[in-house]
Amino acid sequence: MQLSLTNITKSYGQNLVLNNISFDLHDVHSLVVIGPSGGGKTTLLRTVAGLERPDSGQLCIDGEPLHFDDESLLKHRRSIGTVFQAFNLFPHLTALDNILLPLEKAHGYEHLHAVETAQAILKRFQLTGHADKKPAQLSGGQQQRVAIARAIAIKPRFLLFDEPTSALDPEMTSEVLDIIGELREEGRDLLLVTHHMGFARTVGDHCLFVAEGKVLESGPAERLFAEPQSSELQQFLGRVMRY
Ligand SMILES: Nc1ncnc2c1ncn2[C@@H]1O[C@H](COP(=O)(O)OP(=O)(O)OP(=O)(O)O)[C@@H](O)[C@H]1O
Ligand SMILES: [Mg+2]
Repeated sequence: MQLSLTNITKSYGQNLVLNNISFDLHDVHSLVVIGPSGGGKTTLLRTVAGLERPDSGQLCIDGEPLHFDDESLLKHRRSIGTVFQAFNLFPHLTALDNILLPLEKAHGYEHLHAVETAQAILKRFQLTGHADKKPAQLSGGQQQRVAIARAIAIKPRFLLFDEPTSALDPEMTSEVLDIIGELREEGRDLLLVTHHMGFARTVGDHCLFVAEGKVLESGPAERLFAEPQSSELQQFLGRVMRY
């Protein structure tokens, strides 16, 4: 995918969260975003997802400018698959119904077609036996697999993940990271915020280091990790790689 941001700025009250961000990435397939807490990663991702309106600036995906009126944003949001940190499943719906809902309500699938699609995806993620369970009856890893299944079911243009494993124990973390790795190998484009530096390095073809609302470093993931240029990134990697 091609992702181009020009002078994107966003504040919450007095707090400048995205400070004039510009980058122009061509032919990037897995973009990983790393950086310290509060640096603006989630806000950047939500802006790309069409969930936040910047105060100023332009955003272009695959050569198409994103317009920030309600209708365009809704259409845009529906075209991408998003998976967030806190399991964002509807708690009152079963796993199957969580996947059916966007297919039927947002994408106009006939009920039978939606059920076939959802069942095939549940099978792919070894969730068939859990189709009729509600989120509270599933483990964290299973819930995230349902969330990923739901994101994929709609045939998104690309996938956005915001720390999809931060609420999981190590074993479930590996399970979910494996799935993301597989999706990447299948050729799906993705944008991922993660605290797992080893994973970021292997799965990312390009990496952005975001801190204090700015992109302080940008380049091939391998290079950023092997040869961080800025003192900020060197210090950040020193902190997070210590253990
Ligand atoms: N909806 C909001 N209203 C007000 N302030 C917000 C809102 N969302 C984020 N912020 C502020 O914007 C800044 C950047 O937040 P953001 O969530 O983008 O950071 P982050 O890099 O994702 O951090 P983390 O690694 O902890 O998830 C923080 O100072 C945060 O408090
Ligand atoms: Mg965040």
